[in-house]
Amino acid sequence: MPFAKYKDVLFNKTPADMEGILEAIRRARPEYIIELGTQYGGATLAMADVLEEVGGKKVITVDIKDQRKTEVKNDPRILFILGSSIDGRTLEKIKKEIGEGKVLVDIDSDHRTEHVAQELELYAPLVSVGSYMIVEDTFLYWNKYYSDKGWKEKGPYKALMSFLPKHPEFTLDRSLEFPGIINNICGFCLKLERGKENDKETREISPATTEEES
Ligand SMILES: C[S@@+](CC[C@H](N)C(=O)[O-])C[C@H]1O[C@@H](n2cnc3c(N)ncnc32)[C@H](O)[C@@H]1O
Repeated sequence: MPFAKYKDVLFNKTPADMEGILEAIRRARPEYIIELGTQYGGATLAMADVLEEVGGKKVITVDIKDQRKTEVKNDPRILFILGSSIDGRTLEKIKKEIGEGKVLVDIDSDHRTEHVAQELELYAPLVSVGSYMIVEDTFLYWNKYYSDKGWKEKGPYKALMSFLPKHPEFTLDRSLEFPGIINNICGFCLKLERGKENDKETREISPATTEEES
């Protein structure tokens, strides 16, 4: 996986994926960001800066290990929760923090299908209308190196493909897939208003189309 730095702290995404995520924050203007999978915290820091730019309040970030760099630990705009993203206690802490606030969710922890499937079901209700649930590293499905290692069958894309047909309140927003190397292919899910759920008119490009194109 590629590592790059934001303000001297490593993040584990491609620069194009990072741009897509920061643009999603600018468009949705959430009050809270929930990041599942903190690692060193470079992405957390970048998201906190853009969140502040749009008048938001806090990035709540979850990891089973504390690997944060000092500047991430000391940032008052970031709340770190040590624990599993699918643990009920983690979810309770998050719900208490966000209240009725506008929320964007970024899923980037354990990439195995079963785990991502649980995260999708647990966190989808917390995503606000007009905001995003971002599912990272869907590229494992298409990338030959990883798919040869079995990731076609066990990665995040499979979880997302089971989730979307059951959740017409989400549609894919492929305008956030920026030029360059992207690992979040079909990873940006926009939550639609009640009554405007996903149908043929709102579903711009289906994942099946993408598969045919690849
Ligand atoms: C891909 S890294 C996250 C990268 C980070 N989001 C970034 O962009 O820099 C995945 C992280 O998920 C954490 N992780 C693994 N299983 C987890 C779980 N069940 N709950 C929360 N975090 C988990 C790992 O410890 C690791 O730090």
